[in-house]
Amino acid sequence: MPPGTGRADPYRVWLSEVMLQQTTVAAVKNYFIRFTTLWPRVEDLAAAPDAQVMAEWAGLGYYARARNLLACARAVAASGGGFPDTRAGLLTLPGIGPYTAAAIAAIAHDAPETVVDGNVERVVARLFAVQTPLPAAKPELTALAARLTPRTRPGDYAQAMMDLGATICTPRSPACALCPLSDMCDARAQGIAPELPRRAPK
Ligand code: ADE
Repeated sequence: MPPGTGRADPYRVWLSEVMLQQTTVAAVKNYFIRFTTLWPRVEDLAAAPDAQVMAEWAGLGYYARARNLLACARAVAASGGGFPDTRAGLLTLPGIGPYTAAAIAAIAHDAPETVVDGNVERVVARLFAVQTPLPAAKPELTALAARLTPRTRPGDYAQAMMDLGATICTPRSPACALCPLSDMCDARAQGIAPELPRRAPK
């Protein structure tokens, strides 16, 4: 977080969310450090040669993400006003879809947006012992996640739910003994946490 602001830098939140799409935190970490060292501000990234950015991205995969990354950095730099601070404004930028827009608005601007990725779906499915299989369960899980989103510190809440899903409420062997929400988890009470969320047979 930049000193004194109490919030994360939107550029860094955006960069990390784009890198983390379909890639783990462990795999992203050194790329994130390298990018923010080479290009500390969005204007620096916008001015970088395409070939250098693509070369630094090598290994992260999904190269359309790197092309969108540059297009987005250049659009933000050209606007002269930095990253938009609302979900709707963020959605107008290249490569930013509903999930990324909500994550940036919540984490960088503390907006009361509901951020639902696969990790959060799993946490919510277990908390409420939702038996509906994915993908049909998505609207139900999103509605439950929206009800949980607090008015105070929604950004910290969104980050905490993602971290809970990534580190404790894991797909196969959730560490329920370490979970701060275990007392209120319906799936844990029913002994079915590892089985949820259910998935429709392919
Ligand atoms: N995956 C995508 N966004 C994330 C975040 N903000 N924290 C942890 N894992 C993530």
